[in-house]
Amino acid sequence: MASLLKLSLLARRLAPLTTWTRLVTTTTATATPSTASTATSHATKDAKKELLAKFGNLTPQPISIAELLRADRATFAYLSSEIPIRLANMVLELELLPEQLLRQGNCAAILKDYVTSFGEVVAFEALEEPVTAEQLQSFCDTLVSLRRRHLDTVPHMAEAVVRMNQEGVTAGVASSVAYFLDRLYANRISIHMLMSQFMAMQGQDRAVTGLVGVLDPQCNIEEVAREAYATAALLCDQEFMDHPHLVVTNQDVTDPAAPWDTAVTAAYVPAHLHHIFFEVFKNSMRASCELAEARGLLEVPPVRVGIYRSADDITVKISDRGGGMPRRVQRRIFDYSYTTAADAEIPDAEPAGLQGDAVPMHGLGYGLPLSSLYARYFNGDLRVASVHGMGTDTSVYLSNLSSKAEEGLPVFGDVSRRRLTSTAKVAQDWTDMSGHSYD
Ligand SMILES: Nc1ncnc2c1ncn2[C@@H]1O[C@H](COP(=O)(O)OP(=O)(O)O)[C@@H](O)[C@H]1O
Ligand SMILES: [Mg+2]
Repeated sequence: MASLLKLSLLARRLAPLTTWTRLVTTTTATATPSTASTATSHATKDAKKELLAKFGNLTPQPISIAELLRADRATFAYLSSEIPIRLANMVLELELLPEQLLRQGNCAAILKDYVTSFGEVVAFEALEEPVTAEQLQSFCDTLVSLRRRHLDTVPHMAEAVVRMNQEGVTAGVASSVAYFLDRLYANRISIHMLMSQFMAMQGQDRAVTGLVGVLDPQCNIEEVAREAYATAALLCDQEFMDHPHLVVTNQDVTDPAAPWDTAVTAAYVPAHLHHIFFEVFKNSMRASCELAEARGLLEVPPVRVGIYRSADDITVKISDRGGGMPRRVQRRIFDYSYTTAADAEIPDAEPAGLQGDAVPMHGLGYGLPLSSLYARYFNGDLRVASVHGMGTDTSVYLSNLSSKAEEGLPVFGDVSRRRLTSTAKVAQDWTDMSGHSYD
């Protein structure tokens, strides 16, 4: 029950649902409601279903950072077909979720929201290019309302999963839900990324700040890390009345002549990087402060950040001496909702979904799984290596080649259909390995 309370504290009210007006307008233009309302509603339903199936069976086209940096890439033409494709892919997966999850109110509302958003945005796909200024404005307005509608998808789905688990589910159901959550959240990150990029480009941000949309071609990794550290330190002070200090080093191995500690920059989305660092710092700070308290240390051990650039990769290694974690914990840290914290510490500030900084220091168990998704989104990674009794190294990998930093997107198809629906209890192929496997 405690976890439900935590999540509901984070949930922000959903924007009111709107109807599928545009599509309905085209489909029902010739029908008179009094004479043909039932037939029309069936026809409309079928038309919606058909359209969803059509777009849901199209494969999303991933875009790379290099392409996004080109002003002509995240265009109306691309977005007006790509966003409905990504939404419809997700609708088809949502519809296949185990019944135990689908019957939870929040999950059903999310599915409804995805269908609504699909209906709103797909109407623009048919527009002839070039579009007029009004059509473009209407598209932007639709994107704004779409973003608002899906603001709380993460905590609402998390709550649905908590409720489902409280009812008790088989291992098969739990694993298909875990499989799905990664896909839902990755899909969501990708749609938000495209929308933010498009809106920023419409606002011509580039001329003023050097940013290309929400991408920074010269994103200074240390600067983002320091900002995230400062935000995490505020939370840490509230809870522990202290925080570890930060030691940062930069190393660019692509240029042996570069002076020691030259700032490492990369073309990246600062907001994504900030999200990852903020979560990792909170974890390291909590471990370090708890260790200092438990051992009566006069000073909290520092957190060290090493930023390394090689020809292919940028690696950011965040190391703490917070005592690490046992292997039974390590095995579960990427499970949604897994936490060793007793309770979430909800700050006084107004809740802001799980995306803002007004989140608890810890206790939701969403920090690492979501950060890993952000890192993997542009072909990077997040790995945690811990020595119990000593400390933890968390490595964040980013691609240094913007052409290789391509979105990783879930695709609806036979494989995902099988994974989502095969919830039957499977026979063990090993004796009890306590979570280990040789796969
Ligand atoms: N640097 C670290 N040192 C020790 N334990 C850690 C560290 N990072 C993560 N963990 C463990 O992983 C768990 C999951 O982390 P996370 O997903 O961020 O969720 P939360 O912080 O809400 O518990 C934590 O509860 C903690 O037990
Ligand atoms: Mg955390």
